[in-house]
Amino acid sequence: MLKIEPLGDRDVVEAAQLHRVVLDMEFLSRFGPRFMRTYYRAWIHSPGGLALVARERDGALLGVLLGASDPALHVRAMVRDHGLGLAGSIAARALTSPPLAKDLIITRARRYLRGLYRLALKRRATSSAGSNDGTGRRVGEITHVLVDPGARSRGVGRELVAAAVALVREAGVQELTLVTPPDMDARHFYERLGWFQEGSMQSQSGEEFLKFRLHLDAAED
Ligand SMILES: CC(C)(COP(=O)(O)OP(=O)(O)OC[C@H]1O[C@@H](n2cnc3c(N)ncnc32)[C@H](O)[C@@H]1OP(=O)(O)O)[C@@H](O)C(=O)NCCC(=O)NCCS
Repeated sequence: MLKIEPLGDRDVVEAAQLHRVVLDMEFLSRFGPRFMRTYYRAWIHSPGGLALVARERDGALLGVLLGASDPALHVRAMVRDHGLGLAGSIAARALTSPPLAKDLIITRARRYLRGLYRLALKRRATSSAGSNDGTGRRVGEITHVLVDPGARSRGVGRELVAAAVALVREAGVQELTLVTPPDMDARHFYERLGWFQEGSMQSQSGEEFLKFRLHLDAAED
């Protein structure tokens, strides 16, 4: 029996650890355990953020979903409230890992420094009245879904996404988007759940991603 709950303080250590195991190839995972814990903590009280955990009845953590009903609001709150903690963890890790420091400078330093600059300007996080994609529709996003390898193909991922869809729909979101690397199996998972692929994009750091979208008006929970 599966329980889907909002991510809470007690989940942070386990969820961050699961993330590093399941998505060890992701750049974020290279920033280390301290960074990942702060990253997860930043979701807990974020206005506009969406974070869920799936647990077995006996309490074992089986999966995690991160996303946002209002991505712009969430990112501003994350930078404002946790930007310094995240930057400190990255700097500490980079100092002990020259390859990471090099990749960081080449692919991300400019973007991260821009975020810190904004933080220094003390921009206050205010509601963006719903992120939209230029069409006036409210668009949320899923940034990560990850399931413990020992608990795959049991519907955990499906339940996490269904719970996220129900929550953002209640918040007035009309569409959800996500990106996933072209070489990962997750694309078939999202297609199975009714998402449709709408092209690809290159991240600001230069990686290729497939873009997926789900219209909530038409989606089944
Ligand atoms: C992708 C992932 C979240 C799926 O979780 P899961 O709990 O195993 O998926 P579910 O059991 O809920 O599957 C839901 C449906 O998707 C299908 N599906 C799941 N993974 C699939 C895959 N790799 N290829 C094809 N179909 C897949 C299932 O068959 C199922 O369809 P059905 O109900 O019609 O049989 C999980 O494999 C995972 O954590 N992968 C690594 C992390 C990742 O890639 N995350 C996404 C990018 S952030």
